[in-house]
Amino acid sequence: MIEKKLVEETLGKVIYPGFMKSIVDFGFIKKVETTQDIISVWLDIPSSAKEIEDQLREEITKRISLLGDYRIELKITKPKLPRETSSKGKDVLPGIQNFVMVSSGKGGVGKSTTTVNLAIALAQQGKRVGLLDADIYGPNIPRMMGIEGEQPVFLGRNIKPLRAHGVQVMSIGSLIERGASLIWKGAMVTQAIEQMLEDILWDKLDILLFDMPPGTGDAQLALAQNLPVTAGVCVTTPQKVALDDAVRSMDMFTQLHIPIAGIVENMSGFICPDSGKEYDIFGKGTTQPLADVYHTQIIGEIPIEPAIREGGDSGLPITVLAPECETSKRYQQMATLLWEKLIQINEEGGVSNEEIQPTIF
Ligand SMILES: Nc1ncnc2c1ncn2[C@@H]1O[C@H](COP(=O)(O)OP(=O)(O)OP(=O)(O)O)[C@@H](O)[C@H]1O
Ligand SMILES: [Mg+2]
Repeated sequence: MIEKKLVEETLGKVIYPGFMKSIVDFGFIKKVETTQDIISVWLDIPSSAKEIEDQLREEITKRISLLGDYRIELKITKPKLPRETSSKGKDVLPGIQNFVMVSSGKGGVGKSTTTVNLAIALAQQGKRVGLLDADIYGPNIPRMMGIEGEQPVFLGRNIKPLRAHGVQVMSIGSLIERGASLIWKGAMVTQAIEQMLEDILWDKLDILLFDMPPGTGDAQLALAQNLPVTAGVCVTTPQKVALDDAVRSMDMFTQLHIPIAGIVENMSGFICPDSGKEYDIFGKGTTQPLADVYHTQIIGEIPIEPAIREGGDSGLPITVLAPECETSKRYQQMATLLWEKLIQINEEGGVSNEEIQPTIF
């Protein structure tokens, strides 16, 4: 009879589709049993997508059959309805109406800048807005919101979020000393996110925005497993290389059954501060085909503008510093489009991504 350990080792080589980690590392394997001629594996996966199950069955069967001539029994449990993927923690944070995950496949494309300005624009439109910096590896929301160094108030084990520019803000960066480096292992990222969700005392919110770390990793999965994520927003830049990574981010939303609210094309053209004229630098409008494939919309084209970077560095984002400028107006429009989309998603009870074929772009 084959040892269970050998089977587990083999399963440790099976990567969960769309992510970088194995099904063992994610903790999806519930049980392994072996007899003289049968190997049985019980798996509990967060996606209800048929293609994910099929891919996993194929890959697991292929790998286990290399261990010898065994009958393979695979029992895969998955959420029945697409929305259940993201509604495990349904009763968590009932005072928050909408959870929006802002993600990108590639780092440095302007996720945090977009999230900050979007949060402020929504607040300026009268929404009650929260912003959670879920970028545990490189938290920079406190600096961008001008609250770097401020410590939140602790009430027992609970934490009251900070406030800046009309937005409630919480960041792991507010909890660690300035400059301290954090080396979080995969499991700790999940734990940190879970803990942050449990312990923060948000007021009633219309929308809580999550600024995610780049890529498609533990933080994204932890969030989708713990919260009913209402929608995802993908930030990208118009270059071809960035778009390739954006596809991964869109695939991730699809696989986790998170409805896609839209794409933000950041660094889309350049507005010259002297003349106000707009120049095309990285290309412009190149994200439309991506939006088409995923049946979604571009909710904002934000130009490269020195004031955006300066705003981020100084803690006075452009939407606060110059609310009347062209770029701030675009953030306002983004906020309006996002809000409209959230209403639609809530009315429809969640948009099904079923008809989308991942990675065909
Ligand atoms: N439209 C823009 N115009 C000018 N500068 C910008 C623009 N968008 C972002 N930046 C600047 O680019 C840098 C990276 O942006 P940001 O930190 O928002 O990216 P990110 O995607 O959150 O990065 P990371 O993946 O590291 O979290 C920052 O210095 C920011 O001020
Ligand atoms: Mg960031």
